[in-house]
Amino acid sequence: MRVLLTGGGGRLGGALQPLLPGIAAPPRTELDVTDAEVVARAFAAARPEVVVHAAAFTDVSAAERQRDACWRINVLGTRHVAEACARLGATLVHVSTDYVFWGDADPERAARGGYREDDPTGPTRNYYALTKLAAEDEARRAPRHLIVRTTFRATAWPYPVAFTDVATSQTYVDEIAPEIAEVVRWAPRIVDEGVHVLHVAGPPTTAFELARRRAPEVREGTKAEAGVELPDDVTLDVSRWRDLRARLLAQG
Ligand SMILES: NC(=O)c1ccc[n+]([C@@H]2O[C@H](COP(=O)([O-])OP(=O)(O)OC[C@H]3O[C@@H](n4cnc5c(N)ncnc54)[C@H](OP(=O)(O)O)[C@@H]3O)[C@@H](O)[C@H]2O)c1
Repeated sequence: MRVLLTGGGGRLGGALQPLLPGIAAPPRTELDVTDAEVVARAFAAARPEVVVHAAAFTDVSAAERQRDACWRINVLGTRHVAEACARLGATLVHVSTDYVFWGDADPERAARGGYREDDPTGPTRNYYALTKLAAEDEARRAPRHLIVRTTFRATAWPYPVAFTDVATSQTYVDEIAPEIAEVVRWAPRIVDEGVHVLHVAGPPTTAFELARRRAPEVREGTKAEAGVELPDDVTLDVSRWRDLRARLLAQG
């Protein structure tokens, strides 16, 4: 299977490459997703069967100041990639995020968090999240799209404190990359079955418990001290992927 990866130099892209031998991962200098012609040419030359779109503007605070760049990369970039996939009939695995959900206690809902693939998205908390939500719509321009909502950290916990009152499905990139690589291997079959959105993430935990796994000395805190607005619970329900994987593995 010919697989092409955007954003191969990033955290997730870097972790995926060794797991998918033979994957083509041109750097941004060769495949700038903001340039529709560059994308069209690169895709026509590589003729990928599956495209993993992991390139993005991911710096959440810089996104507030550099809105134009963030929109061009995340939204227009995804449009260009999706349109190129549509022309080639390629399967697009578009990497998205739990940030497309709001994540607050909501008196209108019986439960919060535990978001399923078909739950309503938004509202968004910041500009990065807004562009990632808009990018999901752009990904749908490729008839054979698979939107993978995930959430991960780099391999280490970077802060002295972690919050006990933020529920998350976050995990570390080296733990989630093998799952996403597996999704990539099965992506054409998954799309053939009519599945277009998948949540791929870790088990529900708190930010503090997540941090403590890799930074045992981390201090307990609460989100009141964060200085930015954080959700209560943005955990993702991953049962669709769990059931699908079990069935696909059983079928071989
Ligand atoms: N990190 C998280 O917590 C998290 C959580 C959920 C979902 N995600 C999603 O997962 C995906 C990967 O995230 P990540 O953390 O691995 O990101 P990252 O480390 O910031 O890497 C982003 C990659 O995108 C590339 N890129 C940026 N602009 C580009 C352009 N115009 N053309 C081509 N490539 C470009 C970067 O290239 P350079 O190396 O040249 O800058 C880099 O390789 C993103 O879609 C992100 O939204 C991330």
